[in-house]
Amino acid sequence: MDQIKLADSIYYLGFNDRRTHLFENMWPIPYGIAYNSYLINDEKVALIDTVEHQFIDDYFEKIDNILHGKKVDYLIVNHMEPDHSGALKAIIGKYPDITVVGNKKTFDLIDNFYQKTEHSMVVDDGTCLNLGKNVLQFQMIPMVHWPETMVTFDETEQILFSGDAFGSFGTLDGGVFDDELNLQFYEEESMRYFTNVVGKYCLQTSNALKKLSSFKIRMIGAAHGPVWRTDLNWILSRYKKWSNYKTDAGVVIVYGSMYGNTEKMAEVIARQLSKNGVKNIRIYDASKTHVSYIISDIFKYKGLIVGAPTYNLGLFPPVNAFLNDIADMKIKDHYLGLFGNYSWSGGAVKKLKCFAEKMKWEMVDAAVEEKSRLKVEKYEQCLHLADAMAAKIL
Ligand code: FEO
Repeated sequence: MDQIKLADSIYYLGFNDRRTHLFENMWPIPYGIAYNSYLINDEKVALIDTVEHQFIDDYFEKIDNILHGKKVDYLIVNHMEPDHSGALKAIIGKYPDITVVGNKKTFDLIDNFYQKTEHSMVVDDGTCLNLGKNVLQFQMIPMVHWPETMVTFDETEQILFSGDAFGSFGTLDGGVFDDELNLQFYEEESMRYFTNVVGKYCLQTSNALKKLSSFKIRMIGAAHGPVWRTDLNWILSRYKKWSNYKTDAGVVIVYGSMYGNTEKMAEVIARQLSKNGVKNIRIYDASKTHVSYIISDIFKYKGLIVGAPTYNLGLFPPVNAFLNDIADMKIKDHYLGLFGNYSWSGGAVKKLKCFAEKMKWEMVDAAVEEKSRLKVEKYEQCLHLADAMAAKIL
């Protein structure tokens, strides 16, 4: 079997998951996902993270083919989420003397999820572990993506094992390293991974990037997606941009519509944005498109315009669910426009305004509220809303 190496004694032990439909049982992964684990075969042997539970048999086979009976001394848990710790119990079962390496929060989680560990090494910022030739240093990056998340830096080889940070959706189809892959494939999938999974923790991600900037990093072994060894700036620059809410000039229009009247308002607004010179316009029907894709585009573009009809005196439920997700993610620095339909009672626009207050984004214009079919006065207001948004973002 082909063994994939990052350096002389450092092996890639990842697996591609093309069966799972929803990551975390929530986010669509039509192009799958890779779970990356790494093995350092030094005087002492260390595993860095494990893989999802379903791959245990093949995972053990890969380890055995490298170690030929030598035991694993350390299991380093950069991140406890089960897509990485799924093989933890089995590894401890196979190597009962193994020392599990993590921080205090890691062990609280291991205890709660699995079992108490018999041999533990509790690390903190700057703690080092000498394996012989390879010296590892640990740094805490809490909330990228859980409170216990940390990274492991191999000082000898200058490789950063980064956990979820710098990861991506999408399997590794043949190639494993960035220079073996067409990165165009990861353009959308890395952004959707970051925005969906870690997007709520932009501040923490930005802090982690600052903290890691003082390390001389030659290679990044993330827990998902490509191993970065040639163009590290490809992924680093994107993470910096996304985590600082840096957006491009463009507008996402998200609407709900039962009988097409609210949808028509969305079309009118989009056409007027285009006439103003806005080229990046994405229109989504909240009843159809999974929020995963919409979130990603909201991180991409500066403007968001939301429209919904009234339903049972309130907001049309698919739009309501969408807005709850956006509010929960606490996305910052956007311009907002609103439109809605009164239907037979009114209520949607009032609720949309509550969202605006909660988000504290700048409203570019007054909310437009129509009663059923779009008529001249509100048509003009839709144009005005589009003009105001275009003026802000261009
Ligand atoms: Fe890849 Fe937060 O788990």
